[in-house]
Amino acid sequence: MSEPREKTSFAVLDATFIGHAKTVEGLPPPMLAEVAFAGKSNVGKSSLINKLVNRRKLVRTSSTPGATRGLSLFRVRLRLEGGAGAELDLVDLPGYGFAQRSKDERRSWGPMIEGYLERRVSLRAVLLLVDVRRGVAEEDAQLLAYLAHLERPAILVVTKCDKVSRRERDASLRAITRDARAAYPTLPIVATSAESGEGIPELWKATRRATFLEGAAPPAHGMNQLP
Ligand code: GTP
Ligand code: MG
Repeated sequence: MSEPREKTSFAVLDATFIGHAKTVEGLPPPMLAEVAFAGKSNVGKSSLINKLVNRRKLVRTSSTPGATRGLSLFRVRLRLEGGAGAELDLVDLPGYGFAQRSKDERRSWGPMIEGYLERRVSLRAVLLLVDVRRGVAEEDAQLLAYLAHLERPAILVVTKCDKVSRRERDASLRAITRDARAAYPTLPIVATSAESGEGIPELWKATRRATFLEGAAPPAHGMNQLP
């Protein structure tokens, strides 16, 4: 009789900064499946990456909107449920809706993000972040529609849930879910806080599914899984 196999759970083993670029062509070549973090400036993209990888300062964050410029690539080493190893790249995108940017920056933002979303062949899913206090704004809805047009899978991530009462959080989540699901019935929605850690395991699970690391049958040429 064989010994029962020890149950290993999912873990982030480490995370490293790989590179930064102003255009998608300037990024390191696509080697691994990756997910990108998009959303309004100040919504908490960089903070969420730090929380997901258990590092306080891997990515620079700031209370002033516009902290992230250009595209930044990070690589995480994971242990999947069951014990297999995997690697995944995370891309921090600069936020939109930040009026104080210079004209040049505003002009270059669109082509930079569009170029990345359209041409990055390793991009498997986009995590679109919205603040629990604001819900899905017009610009977020436009990005969701654009991603659907590109056939890029999305995960809707509600951020800063620690900032409101339980009641407000629940009401906001209900409204966000109702509206989003009306247009995108299968869109995964995860409520999070980079402060309290709420939703981090659930977001990792949704991310692993979206990148085929766990849960679904991998594509014909599976990426990322290490022996
Ligand atoms: P840009 O790079 O400008 O697009 O912003 P960003 O989306 O990367 O936001 P960032 O992570 O820099 O966070 C903006 C501010 O919100 C910082 O002051 C963070 O400390 C704060 N913040 C982010 N996430 C949370 C959260 O879950 N809870 C609370 N209370 N504050 C948060
Ligand atoms: Mg940022």
